[in-house]
Amino acid sequence: MENFTFYAPTMFVFGDGEEQKTGELVRHFNGTKVLLVYGGGSVKKNGAYDAVTASLDAAGLAWEELSGVQANPRSGIVYKGIEQVREEGFDFLIALGGGSVIDTAKAIGFGACYDGDFWDFFTGRAKIKKTLPVGVVLTIAAAGSEGSDSCVITQERGNLKWGCPKTDLIRPKFAILDPRLTCTLPASQTANGAADIFAHICERYFSPTPDVALTDRLCEALMKTIVDAAPEALAHPDAYSPRADLMWAGMLAHNNSCGVGRVQDWASHQIEHELSAFYDCAHGAGLAVILPAWMEYVYPKDPMRFARFGTEVFGCEMDYARPERTAREGIRRLRVFFKSLGLPEKLQDIGGRLEDVPDMIEHRREKPNGFPFGGFMKFGPEEMEAVLRLSAE
Ligand code: NZQ
Ligand code: ZN
Repeated sequence: MENFTFYAPTMFVFGDGEEQKTGELVRHFNGTKVLLVYGGGSVKKNGAYDAVTASLDAAGLAWEELSGVQANPRSGIVYKGIEQVREEGFDFLIALGGGSVIDTAKAIGFGACYDGDFWDFFTGRAKIKKTLPVGVVLTIAAAGSEGSDSCVITQERGNLKWGCPKTDLIRPKFAILDPRLTCTLPASQTANGAADIFAHICERYFSPTPDVALTDRLCEALMKTIVDAAPEALAHPDAYSPRADLMWAGMLAHNNSCGVGRVQDWASHQIEHELSAFYDCAHGAGLAVILPAWMEYVYPKDPMRFARFGTEVFGCEMDYARPERTAREGIRRLRVFFKSLGLPEKLQDIGGRLEDVPDMIEHRREKPNGFPFGGFMKFGPEEMEAVLRLSAE
C-alpha cells in the first residue's frame, strides 16, 4: 500500500424525508442567502423542489434559483450562475439533482470567487484557492459528485468535456441522500447510474499496486451490492432497500475511500468523456460500452486480477491452470449484467461511429496532459483507438 492522505469533510445526512433538513443544514454551515441550482422538471414532479424550498423558507433563508442544468452540463449555465452570484451576493449554493447539477454548482462556487474565466481552472492557468460552500440534495445514485473532489463541465467553446484538477476544497459541505427521491428515475437513468458507480470502483480496483487487501475487499463488496441492487431497483422501482443500497454505494464508490493507497486507472472515464462530448450520451451509458472493451484490451497484463474480479464479483469458477479463461468469463458476465439492465453494448448503440475516432483522439490532445493516461496500463492514441474499435465489435 502507498502512503496517502484522506480528507473527506462532507456531512452526509441519509434517509427518507431528510431533504426537509436542507434549511437547517445551510444555517449550520453559516449560509444566509442561497442560490438553488437544479435541472429540468424532475425535481418538481417528485416533490423534492417543494420539500427543499419549504425547508429554506422555514429556516428564514433568502433564496433564488437557477434552473435548466442539462445532463453533461455546459459552460453557459456556469457563466450565468457566476453572474447571478456576483450581482446578488449569494453566500451558499444548493445543488438539487444529480452529478450535472452538483458539478454546475461546484463550478459556479469556485468561478464566482475568481476574477478571471472559471475555465482557467480546467486549462491549468489558475489554481482553485477559494470557493463558495455547496450543499447537495441528491436525486440520482450515479456520479458520486456529492462526496467527490472533482467537477466535470463541457466548455461550449470547442466542445471540451473536461474535469477540473481534483481538490478537497470543492467537496460539498453537506449532502442529503434520500433514496426515496430516486424512485422516480426512469429505468434507463437507474441503469446508467449503476454503470457509473460500478465503473468508479473498477477504476480503482484494477491497480498495479500490491498489498491493498482491505480496499480490494471493500471494492468487491460494493460491486456485488450493485449486481444485486440494480436489478431489484429496476424490477421494483418504488422499493426503498435497493435504492438505499445504490445511493450509499454511489457515494462510497467515488469519495475515494476505496481508492486510497493505490495507483488508480481512469482510462475508461477519459475515453467516455469524449463519447459524451461527441454524442451527448449519458455518462453511464458511455461507460457501459467502454468499460468491458477496456477490460478486454488490458486483461492480459494481469489475468489473475481479472480472474479474481470474475470469481469474487460474479461467482465464476477459478481455472487455476488457465486464469485468463476465468478473466474472460468475468468480463463476459459483466457484459451480460449490463445488458440485463438494458444498457447499450456497443459504440453504435449510443450513436458512435468509428469514423470519428481520429477526431476524438485529436480532441483529447487539446487537454492539458491529454496523453498518456491510465494507471493500470498507459494509454496513448494507439491504445485509445484500439479500445474504441473493440467497443464497436
Ligand atoms: O434535469 P432533470 O429533469 O432533473 O432530469 C435528470 C437528468 O435528465 C434526471 N433525473 C435526476 N434525478 C431524477 C431524474 N429523473 C427522475 N427522477 C429523479 N429523481 O436524470 C438525468 C441525468 O442527471 P445527471 O445529473 O446528468 O446524472 P448523473 O448523476 O449521472 O451525472 C452525470 C454527470 O456527472 C459527471 C458526468 O460526466 C456527467 O456530466 N461526473 C461527475 C463526477 C464528479 N463530479 O465527481 C464523476 C463522474 O465520473 C462523472 O464524470
Ligand atoms: Zn463516472
